[in-house]
Amino acid sequence: MLNVAVLISGAGSNLRAFLEAAAEADYPAHVVAVGADRDAAGLAHADDFGIPSFSVPYTSYPTRAAWGEELAVQLRAWDPDLIVLSGLMRLLPDNVVAEFAPRIINTHPAYLPEFPGAHGVRDALASGATRTGASVIQVDGGVDTGPILAQERVEIEPGDTESTLHDRIKPVERRLLIDVVRRIAAGDLAFS
Ligand code: GRF
Repeated sequence: MLNVAVLISGAGSNLRAFLEAAAEADYPAHVVAVGADRDAAGLAHADDFGIPSFSVPYTSYPTRAAWGEELAVQLRAWDPDLIVLSGLMRLLPDNVVAEFAPRIINTHPAYLPEFPGAHGVRDALASGATRTGASVIQVDGGVDTGPILAQERVEIEPGDTESTLHDRIKPVERRLLIDVVRRIAAGDLAFS
């Protein structure tokens, strides 16, 4: 059974979908803790599933490195086999990547390497592209530059807004994440 810690920043709709999958008896991973870089609404999903949660508010620390030190303390306490970034809108500090990589994966609402960064949906829409996608990658020291573990194209429809497009992407992200973690738990995905 793979012990997974999930980090979020927002509503956590992708987290909730993962929690629902992990609650299935035959799913080979379970969530040991949910963390956030702020008082994220999505932490309530952890409560709903009786899963411990923690918040390390980025704005409470003088530097990114100091924030990273506390985040590492919190993560270390749960001894996760895998850390999933599911809507964490913060770049992980070097100390966290150094300590936990390659056991960190991230979901991104674009077809990487297209449209990396915090506004992948908006950027895809603004580019005039007719399709974008969803990706699950391994986190390295860059911005959405790690090895791609899974990705799938998502069509951009005429009249799409950032919200309607994101709502079409998220279910794909969720499905890819659930499958990637299942493959990691089965040992099918060797981390480089
Ligand atoms: C997801 O699309 C994630 O990939 C991106 O932000 C969104 C988070 O949505 N970084 P939610 O908080 O899971 O609803």
